[in-house]
Amino acid sequence: MKRRSFLKNTVIATGMGVMGYIPNTQAYTKNSVSLVNNNKDQKPLFRFLQVNDLHVQSYTVRAFTAYNGGLVGENWYGDTNGRTLWLSEALKNGFFPELDFLLIAGDMVVGIGNGLEGIRSDMEYFNEHFIKQLPIPFYPVIGNHENLQDEGVEASEIYYRQTFGNDKSDYGFVHKGIHFIIFNNSGSGEYVSGKRAKIRAELLEQMLERHPSLPKVLCCHIPVIPVRHKETLSKSFRFPNWITMEPEILQLTEKHRNKILAILSGHIHLSGVACHQSVYQIVSSGLASFPHDMTLYSVFNDRMDVEFIQIPSDLWEPKSNLYGCRRLRRDITDEQHIDHLSYIMGNPSERIFSIPMK
Ligand SMILES: [Fe+2]
Ligand SMILES: [Fe+2]
Repeated sequence: MKRRSFLKNTVIATGMGVMGYIPNTQAYTKNSVSLVNNNKDQKPLFRFLQVNDLHVQSYTVRAFTAYNGGLVGENWYGDTNGRTLWLSEALKNGFFPELDFLLIAGDMVVGIGNGLEGIRSDMEYFNEHFIKQLPIPFYPVIGNHENLQDEGVEASEIYYRQTFGNDKSDYGFVHKGIHFIIFNNSGSGEYVSGKRAKIRAELLEQMLERHPSLPKVLCCHIPVIPVRHKETLSKSFRFPNWITMEPEILQLTEKHRNKILAILSGHIHLSGVACHQSVYQIVSSGLASFPHDMTLYSVFNDRMDVEFIQIPSDLWEPKSNLYGCRRLRRDITDEQHIDHLSYIMGNPSERIFSIPMK
């Protein structure tokens, strides 16, 4: 198990929050999230929605209850399919404000534990019941559950590639003046080969050098900057790939920090934000685990507003929380998130905030 501690000076976002809440800003706080902007009347240039970690299953009786020693297995997440189908309907019936596109940030399916056949059948379900129903454009990001964690291995990524195309691993696009860069870090740590890690960094650098005048938003499945106290997070997540382990990815982010607004990720099944050298790391819990968050981004000329949105409360399944008593025999907290709900959801000021434009 590799755990490199290369991340220094990581900070938890703070600021004047909603409802006058002022969080503890000591310890590893360095930068701050700017003032919350609740001006809903102002029309943005565009909005997009991030969803991730849906963990759809093609059938409910699974053959992998022993997976990971039973830590996460059959039915752990409850009715993930139901929540995904709710999202499919919500995108059609006006639950959200007008969206230009959907960003699907990895772990669409369960996959792992059932080999390639599990991925094939889960991806087929996801494609039929979600992708083909989408009323708006979408951009996919590969997660470790779409490729057996075999990052960049075509044979393992076959069903993701068949569904979305060979060009949807590491790619970019420009939307209304923002340069989006999507990269595949799904095998970070012990799962990725040295060769692929080198290719990943080279591709990322090439993409970062395109459109030098445009502000950039990066998206990858596994976070690059920790959004919780890192030792607490690595211990409570309990999988070795709790953060992007290859230091060159953070180094490239730092090198291009003057143009990178944020890195959008999922994977760790909690919601949070951190700011490192003016680059925001935003992590959304996704639908599989409580708090079942999605993230709404509203882009204006001078800023990008960020807001976590939960699915409706009648669909909540608190037992799907990865950081509580059910899995860890106690409810995890850290020094910046002093109660358990804050640990998995973020503090109020971390759930709605603005990022200045660059
Ligand atoms: Fe996940
Ligand atoms: Fe993941």
